[in-house]
Amino acid sequence: MKHLQELLYLLGSVGFIVGLKMMGKPDSARKGNLVAAAGMALAVIGVLFFNWVDDGAGGGSFEITGNLGLILGAIAVGTLIGTLIAKKVKMTKMPEMVSLFNGMGGLCAALISIIEWRGIISPETAAEAIPLGHYLAIMAGLIIGTVSFIGSMVAWGKLSGKLGDFRFPGQQYINMIMLLAILGAAYMNYGAAAEGNSLYFYLTIGLAFIYGLLFVFPIGGADMPVVISLLNSFTGVAAACGGFLYHNNVMLMGGILVGSAGTILTVVMCKAMNRSLLNVLLGNFGGSSAAAGATNASGGTVREVQATDVAIMMKYANKVIVVPGYGLAVAQAQHVVHELETMLEAEGVDVKYAIHPVAGRMPGHMNVLLAESNVSYDKLVEMEHVNPEFAATDVVLVVGANDVVNPAAKTDPSSPIYGMPILDVENSKQIIVLKRSMKSGYAGIENELFFNPKCGMLFGDAKDSLQKLVNELKVV
Ligand code: TAP
Repeated sequence: MKHLQELLYLLGSVGFIVGLKMMGKPDSARKGNLVAAAGMALAVIGVLFFNWVDDGAGGGSFEITGNLGLILGAIAVGTLIGTLIAKKVKMTKMPEMVSLFNGMGGLCAALISIIEWRGIISPETAAEAIPLGHYLAIMAGLIIGTVSFIGSMVAWGKLSGKLGDFRFPGQQYINMIMLLAILGAAYMNYGAAAEGNSLYFYLTIGLAFIYGLLFVFPIGGADMPVVISLLNSFTGVAAACGGFLYHNNVMLMGGILVGSAGTILTVVMCKAMNRSLLNVLLGNFGGSSAAAGATNASGGTVREVQATDVAIMMKYANKVIVVPGYGLAVAQAQHVVHELETMLEAEGVDVKYAIHPVAGRMPGHMNVLLAESNVSYDKLVEMEHVNPEFAATDVVLVVGANDVVNPAAKTDPSSPIYGMPILDVENSKQIIVLKRSMKSGYAGIENELFFNPKCGMLFGDAKDSLQKLVNELKVV
């Protein structure tokens, strides 16, 4: 009975682990999310209602710690706001929402540290009296949580197009100095605690705040996926510090899981971008999303095509590969692209989807989008497996993708995306690109692919263009 809380924590932790595992596959991801949420519910119930307090005579009872009314009120407000935002959010705004939620996690961790600090700082508390492990957990939660909060807010601003990149010469060195200054202030704070002095504590917060801004502002363009996953892992580590402070195993476990999952994702994203983490953080790669180039520097021409011609081309093809990108999400064209796929398959055409790891604006964006329209998972082929197939492909249909098919990544050392692995669509026999204009993608750079003689541009909103292709296929 007395160990009911531990049992709930254990079940909660199992829920997180099983949920996370299920999220690894598109067909079980939705249920995995629910399993992890149920784990969290058990953990919250355990914290609130099953805190065993010994009476000193071999017995005891469960006691509620804290103001239950306030806690339940806060949970209700949070649940309401979270549900409304999650229900209303458009698919294209999901990455911004994830950044915002991640930032809130970082803020929570920083607030926990502030509250804990205020609890231990008093004129009677000598610095020596604060256990070093406890102190380190408070400061790590504070620093990492603050950086994660501010960084996620900047990432949110960048993803929503409200903020651009901000760089100045020598920024890397200033960042390193800031990092050392934060560590210095945290060190001084340990001594100052003896006098009940919080000056260095608040200085640490201020410096971490500025560091969060300087850390994320210069990273832009195609490197954003790495920053987003890194911030994700920061929030996990900051939350784990809270678990350590409160001796709360389920919080520790949750934090470690988020931290390690975020770290693995960061490594995967770095690999996808062919960059080392240090390279991303110090290198100032990636162009501004505002720097659109509409004309071809080498004077090439663009071949515009019509839906009728594309429909005929695809109907008589043996193999068609669809390359979805961010524009598919903007146009909400996932259902109609599935309809097109079904019609082509009925004609005997082999249809697959080529999935680039950073297509769209969040990890797994294209998988989630296509799963929504019930595209069969075995039709989604990852970049390294699909690339060798392009040479034997009759038509590649690029739907709202741009950076992930830009050959400059392979051919132009001066390009900000140089070195990033891309989908080798130019190896196929025909390339058809569905987009609205000649504007650039997220990295803000021109795409030579559109000037390739094998490439035809079908201009217009992706959903409208795909609908035209479906209509044409019915009559050709
Ligand atoms: P992008 O390079 O961003 O290109 C998307 C293209 O879609 C644009 O060129 C746009 O051209 C077109 N488009 C937009 N709305 C459309 C609509 N309604 N109908 C038809 N086309 C439309 O996309 P991508 O190829 O998927 O590459 C992703 C980029 O985002 C990479 O640079 C990646 O590093 C970055 N990024 C990714 C993530 C993650 S985690 N996936 C996170 C942050 C940033 P028009 O305006 O001419 O239509």
